[in-house]
Amino acid sequence: MIALYFSGTGNSKFVAETMADHLGGVAYSIEAAMDFDALMVQTDTILVSYPVYASRVPKIMRDFVTAHRNGFRNKKLIILCTQMMYSGDGAKAFYHLVADCNVDVRYADHINMPNNIPNIPMVTIKDSEYHRKLRLAARKLKTIADRIQKGQKFLKGWGVLGSALGRVQRPIPDAQYDAKHVDAFLVSEDCIRCGLCVKHCPAKNLSMEAEGVTSHHRCTLCFRCVNLCPAKACTVMLHKPVRRQYRKLLPTVMSSNAGSDIQKEDSL
Ligand SMILES: Cc1cc2nc3c(=O)[nH]c(=O)nc-3n(C[C@H](O)[C@H](O)[C@H](O)COP(=O)(O)O)c2cc1C
Ligand code: SF4
Ligand code: SF4
Repeated sequence: MIALYFSGTGNSKFVAETMADHLGGVAYSIEAAMDFDALMVQTDTILVSYPVYASRVPKIMRDFVTAHRNGFRNKKLIILCTQMMYSGDGAKAFYHLVADCNVDVRYADHINMPNNIPNIPMVTIKDSEYHRKLRLAARKLKTIADRIQKGQKFLKGWGVLGSALGRVQRPIPDAQYDAKHVDAFLVSEDCIRCGLCVKHCPAKNLSMEAEGVTSHHRCTLCFRCVNLCPAKACTVMLHKPVRRQYRKLLPTVMSSNAGSDIQKEDSL
């Protein structure tokens, strides 16, 4: 079994790695530079993990599926998306991407994890909430692994209600949603030009130019830059002041110098 994940701020990586441990597989980030076609052909079961964005699969994950769709053909599939609290049919949204690949979905579920949007009033992340949610998620993942090993099938959000709730959050098609948000990144005058957002953006959306950090119409909405920025100068979609950043698992998804690139007291 292999687990393929995209994770903006660490939650979905936690899910993929925990499940890979339970099921005796290996977890890989889709950001890694590797031959995924060769990897996928060698396994009969693929677990995917990703954060839901308004009940959608992130654009970067959808693009990965488009690039490697043959790798999903005739596979057993386990879909575990992560969310703050609600996505209706966030797991089934992935199934729609590969429905024509003769996949056998063995298990699909939504895992509640800490919110990673640090500028919505009321739902910023307190330490106690982080620990509580992670404990509950770890317990749920163990139960899921036990069920999968017993051959039990479960498809969260596959029914009429799940689809209806998902559609409420997805009133427009993915392509239209992407077009609306590829320029969602904004940088304020508080930027100190440290370059961290440029270095760690998974969509390679940012560059440092003479006039400052510049966005190139490729934002995948992951909020990594928003939570990472030492000056709280990045905002995405919601251009309100950034409050308490979600950095608990962030070092685990940064491409290099994971521990040292962000302030020590905020890291794991
Ligand atoms: C742009 C965006 C949209 C989101 N939409 C939802 C949502 O519809 N429902 C929900 O419960 N959580 C939502 N979240 C919260 C994330 O899905 C959640 O925190 C996730 O576990 C983050 O995973 P990651 O750390 O692997 O990136 C959203 C987060 C972002 C950044
Ligand atoms: S991380 Fe923040 S301070 Fe650093 S370059 Fe990006 S916007 Fe500027
Ligand atoms: S600009 Fe920020 S939110 Fe957008 S993809 Fe890059 S790191 Fe993620």
